[in-house]
Amino acid sequence: MAYARFAVTSTDPSPTAVRASHPARPIRTFHPRRGRMTTRQTDALARLWPLHGLTVPGGDAAPVDLAGLFGRRAPVVLEIGSGMGDTTVAMAAADPGRDYLAVEVHTPGIANLLDLAERRALTNVRVAEGDALDLVAGLPPGSLDAVHVFFPDPWPKSRHHKRRIVQPRHVALLRSRLAAGGVLHCATDWAEYATAMRMTLDADPGLVATHEGFASRPPHRPVTKFERRAIVAGRPVADLIYRRA
Ligand SMILES: C[S@@+](CC[C@H](N)C(=O)[O-])C[C@H]1O[C@@H](n2cnc3c(N)ncnc32)[C@H](O)[C@@H]1O
Repeated sequence: MAYARFAVTSTDPSPTAVRASHPARPIRTFHPRRGRMTTRQTDALARLWPLHGLTVPGGDAAPVDLAGLFGRRAPVVLEIGSGMGDTTVAMAAADPGRDYLAVEVHTPGIANLLDLAERRALTNVRVAEGDALDLVAGLPPGSLDAVHVFFPDPWPKSRHHKRRIVQPRHVALLRSRLAAGGVLHCATDWAEYATAMRMTLDADPGLVATHEGFASRPPHRPVTKFERRAIVAGRPVADLIYRRA
């Protein structure tokens, strides 16, 4: 199979999620989803994954070498849950001085991102396949210029709130990987999650809000499919932008 590396690693039953900072059987923040790929996505995955893909390393692996991954030393932006990749690619195209690492578990989204990045001839985009929390745990402390968490799954039922990506323990991990002055930028159209995010981010001892209350969408964050749906449904979108002190 042309993209055997991707297929093998994505189904590997070894305990890649186990890291010292996470429980042995972590509570996942995502729904396992199947999805059909278009011919174009299948082709993009086969050709581009070996060049621009990163399988989220296991617990005992050495820290991810970001300069090696991108082939240069530049500030790195991590986008968690990049979906179909539109936002990552648009932001990377507008910001060639920084490198963009997207992380997703949904294979068609990973393939789509690789396709979009190639179509725009971007050299500053890489994509990781696996759980973002495992990836972040494997990054060197202080190695990120920004972390983007745009429209994370809201897990609206109370009994599922433990699955939310924006919660104190995860925020502390994300903050530890930001450089001083680095930015954690979240956005959501789920009002109750927005309030919970704000309480969590305000309470983090190492983060400082860049705004009073909620921020409005900064011009550099493109409008996503989720945002368009929210606007049509009359749900306001909240941005939350915090700096590491
Ligand atoms: C609601 S979608 C939003 C996608 C995209 N950010 C957008 O605005 O269009 C949330 C995405 O986060 C991904 N996701 C959730 N938890 C994740 C995790 N721990 N690691 C990697 N991806 C994750 C899901 O697979 C899903 O594609």
